[in-house]
Amino acid sequence: APELRSKITLGSRWPPSNSPIRSVQRYLERFHLTREKLQEVSERLRKDLIRGLGKHSHHKAPVKMLPTFVRATPDGTEKGDFLALDLGGTNFRVLHVRVMEEQQRVLKMDSQICAIPKEMMQGTGEQLFDHIAACLYDFLLSHNLERETLPLGFTFSFPCEQKEIDKSILIRWTKGFNCSGVEGEDVVKLLKEAIRRRGDYDIGSVAMVNDTVGTMMSCGFRDQSCEIGMIIGTGTNACYMEEMKNVKRVEGEAGRMCINTEWGGFGDDGSLRDIQTEFDVVVDEMSINPGVHTFEKMISGMYLGEIVRLLLVRLTEDGLLFGGRTSKALLTPEAFETKFISEIEEQDNGLENTQKVLSKFGLKWDTVDSCVVRLVCDAISSRSARLCGAALATLANRIRVNRRQERLKTTVGVDGTVYKKHPNFSEELRATVRLLAPKCDITFLVSEDGSGKGAAMVTAVAQRLARQSRLLEESDGETDDEEEEEEEDQ
Ligand code: BGC
Repeated sequence: APELRSKITLGSRWPPSNSPIRSVQRYLERFHLTREKLQEVSERLRKDLIRGLGKHSHHKAPVKMLPTFVRATPDGTEKGDFLALDLGGTNFRVLHVRVMEEQQRVLKMDSQICAIPKEMMQGTGEQLFDHIAACLYDFLLSHNLERETLPLGFTFSFPCEQKEIDKSILIRWTKGFNCSGVEGEDVVKLLKEAIRRRGDYDIGSVAMVNDTVGTMMSCGFRDQSCEIGMIIGTGTNACYMEEMKNVKRVEGEAGRMCINTEWGGFGDDGSLRDIQTEFDVVVDEMSINPGVHTFEKMISGMYLGEIVRLLLVRLTEDGLLFGGRTSKALLTPEAFETKFISEIEEQDNGLENTQKVLSKFGLKWDTVDSCVVRLVCDAISSRSARLCGAALATLANRIRVNRRQERLKTTVGVDGTVYKKHPNFSEELRATVRLLAPKCDITFLVSEDGSGKGAAMVTAVAQRLARQSRLLEESDGETDDEEEEEEEDQ
């Protein structure tokens, strides 16, 4: 495949223009993004970040740039026991997490996965939150925690307008969820109401966390220069530490705040039309939220497999694959899972894996077919990695310019199945960042369960800040008193 790929992409005179490979190449070229194009994309995103942060431009901005009310990354003194909920990735989970100050460690003590049936993902909000409250109760019961009132970090990986750390309004569902009566509502309130309806247990203070923030915070405990969190899994998104003076929608100029960019919405105003292919357009139209999360639909695990499938169907119909014969399985929407792409592109067993997948799909293949299928997967996953790289470069460049630094050294916490499981995704992403953010030295830290541990971390940092400000108030109080006493003495 590599030789074939270089021949195909280098635009040599091989193969001849009437060769079927030429026709395949014409399709694949539409997924190729040049350095100039990536630079343009990064520049467009840079402008959209500013629009999202602005007081007056925000409401129309496709990249929402949501304040998270996370004002500090961990300083290593956090500690305590927490519950965490994680909704919005592959599974719904409940966790019990302990943060240990002495050993600078976050321990995930126990966790439990609760399936959310597809009907529930698109049913009523009340059903969903009742189910969440029931799963939490089962977990507490089986761990003898039902009588404790532990603080809870809720990783809720959807775009939310956060009013406070414990008040978070869902803007819209993404990634296949579409429960009625939740958009526009405070998710913490819905959770607490569901727990109250049961009446058999209670929870302590709640901190709402986006998974990107959880990822940044869980890595931040290990590496205190971690100031970006990025997810490339079922969906995609990133957060980073922004200067408060630029966060125009929140009062105060001092310090920093973590901004959940919601970069998945990039392009929702049509700004990515020049790079969308006809296959992206079909994926969008067939989704449950057409017109929404354009960038995410070109990148994340929920959609990559489907783009590959649509292209394979087209190539077959054009007589360029499988002797022109499709199969029932190949014609089934969403049947081609994104994990197949990772298997097919594996360095050592890739060809064998490809043939297994093609046989499973009931296709009659020969060696050329399997090579072409690998090229298709490579074209689509590479585009995803490069787009993510361009977007990450935009954030890193922004932090560097914000701080007026000649060079920026920073760490990105990363999570998500696409990033973790695909054989060369991370390498391609890094290469793009090096190209587009040459003055930034970025360390990538793969997060170990950021959604669980990170949620506990955010809750712990919020408690530390509250503790510190209480202490400050108390000591302020003392000075005031002393001053008064002095005045009285005089
Ligand atoms: C959501 C984000 C989330 C991302 C990764 C997107 O669909 O809008 O809030 O961070 O998926 O899970």
